[in-house]
Amino acid sequence: MLERKLVSARCGVINPMSTDDYLAHDGYKSLEKAMTLTKEAVIAEVKTAGLRGRGGAGFPTAMKMASLAIEADPEKYVVCNADEGEPGNFKDRYLLENDPHSVLEGMAIVGYATGATKGYIYIRGEYDLPIRTMRWTVEQAGRRGYLGRMILGCDFTFDVEIRSGAGSYVCGEEFALIESIEGKPGRTRVKPPFPTQHGIFGKPTLISNVETFVNIPVILAIGGSEFAKIGTKSSTGTKLICLSGNLNHRGIFEIPFGVPIRAVIDELGGGCANNRKIRMVQLGGACGPIIPPFMLDMTIDYERFEEFESKTGAGAIIVIDDRFDLFKILLRIVKFFAHESCGKCVPCREGNAQLSIMLEKFIDRRATPTDLLSLESLARVMHQTSLCGLGQTCPTSIIAALRYFREDFLERIEYPGI
Ligand SMILES: Cc1cc2nc3c(=O)[nH]c(=O)nc-3n(C[C@H](O)[C@H](O)[C@H](O)COP(=O)(O)O)c2cc1C
Ligand code: SF4
Repeated sequence: MLERKLVSARCGVINPMSTDDYLAHDGYKSLEKAMTLTKEAVIAEVKTAGLRGRGGAGFPTAMKMASLAIEADPEKYVVCNADEGEPGNFKDRYLLENDPHSVLEGMAIVGYATGATKGYIYIRGEYDLPIRTMRWTVEQAGRRGYLGRMILGCDFTFDVEIRSGAGSYVCGEEFALIESIEGKPGRTRVKPPFPTQHGIFGKPTLISNVETFVNIPVILAIGGSEFAKIGTKSSTGTKLICLSGNLNHRGIFEIPFGVPIRAVIDELGGGCANNRKIRMVQLGGACGPIIPPFMLDMTIDYERFEEFESKTGAGAIIVIDDRFDLFKILLRIVKFFAHESCGKCVPCREGNAQLSIMLEKFIDRRATPTDLLSLESLARVMHQTSLCGLGQTCPTSIIAALRYFREDFLERIEYPGI
């Protein structure tokens, strides 16, 4: 059995619109347990678990919690990032729709451990059902005493408000998200200072992904050391994988870290549909690398992904079969980023437009050797000099394709005079 259900254990089992059902399936037990511990002990448990953020960058969650906890300001915020705008990713929606109380329980535990009294859930505007589900769940949790003042009869207050973006991908980036919650256009800021020092309305703020928050009650329930035994040394626990593309079975699967990509595609995805051959696979989402089939024995692990100058991404695996043209796929990705670029910095704003022009030349077989050099150098410059993660990661697919599919580029080049 490849799957191991921890964060998605209740999905499809409970009625998400029934608080009683959640309580009957051990709901809010982890919050109760956390509140018998000191704040430091809760953070220590998350540290022992080795939990790393599931929103893409893989930052250690306990470190973020500790940074917020040491801030003396009594006004602190906890934000759940449910923007999920990257093509290929749909796992946060699954958790919000199917186990909404667990998101709140995770946020409340983090609030308790860090001294924050207010939480926001930032959900992309297109996610109509998750927005409605979470609004209803917040109200229900408040009525039952799991949110609001004097939670579980103790001196702990934690309120949650739902905010929604207007469908801009960059609003998932933490500073753009903060600006958006403050009512401004979603554009990043120069960092440092980091959100845990200077976040919403200038107050200390912790931002984590939906799946990260849902892991917190799991850790409290089974204990940090048991959690750390699942997965690999550098990547503990499980990961929700969004499997899409030309497969027999597409969908969301929860696996322990350390499983080879090929096993996920073959055993859970049922292999390529219509007996086609896999041509390439994109990992993580639109900002992730594109790799050839011979690399599919690589395991799903934070450290392995970093070898591609990439982060794990949010967990997408997109399978592309032999009918598709690499350059058309790359162009589609670049056009998405050109559309989503906020325009604040030159490398990303101008770079994506230039990348599109160059890729079109490869598609039309008009590219020259100089275009190949320019494409490579521009992709690297964007990666190294863009202001926020959007511009830094959007050329990852091109950088990986230049490394693993170089013959395809060479084959399209027009050599003057030949
Ligand atoms: C352009 C861009 C979009 C992002 N979108 C999301 C998103 O939709 N959800 C998310 O959790 N993180 C997103 N991130 C990452 C966040 O900035 C941040 O690292 C993350 O929410 C931290 O949570 P974690 O520590 O739980 O991973 C995005 C980053 C960038 C640069
Ligand atoms: S990298 Fe792109 S999205 Fe980020 S600040 Fe620069 S222009 Fe805006």
